[in-house]
Amino acid sequence: GAPVEVDITTLQPGEMRTVEWRGKPVWILKRTPEMIESLKKTDGKVADANSQRNPAEFTPPYCMNEARSIKPEILVAVGICTHLGCSPSSKFTPGPQPSLPDDWEGGFLCPCHGSTFDMAGRVFKNKPAPDNLQVPRHMYLSDTKLLIG
Ligand code: FES
Repeated sequence: GAPVEVDITTLQPGEMRTVEWRGKPVWILKRTPEMIESLKKTDGKVADANSQRNPAEFTPPYCMNEARSIKPEILVAVGICTHLGCSPSSKFTPGPQPSLPDDWEGGFLCPCHGSTFDMAGRVFKNKPAPDNLQVPRHMYLSDTKLLIG
């Protein structure tokens, strides 16, 4: 599949856009400062905080950091659960909600078998999903132009 160019000029903090790349949904989320801050709180609760599992498949070297991104505010991730391929939904509001722990900091929930992921797509411990959500290869062509793939 060809790389996909995305203009993120109008993407607002807290907003997520989905684009298609190689037939897969790719999320582009502009994180708020609070969302970035939440990653410090989930560091100890996720299974692979530094994305060291299967990096060739799931995390390019330049995204092997806490935020799993090139710029801390922009997350680019494939919106497919690494368990059996369902589509996780975004649950960005922190706090108690159905099917989520009371100390929820915001992230994603897979409806199929309950895997949860933080605001960097890092899977929480003791969940069926074996890996963090895939961060596809990507680069910035300019401040506001992303190339995915
Ligand atoms: Fe997501 Fe099973 S497919 S938890």
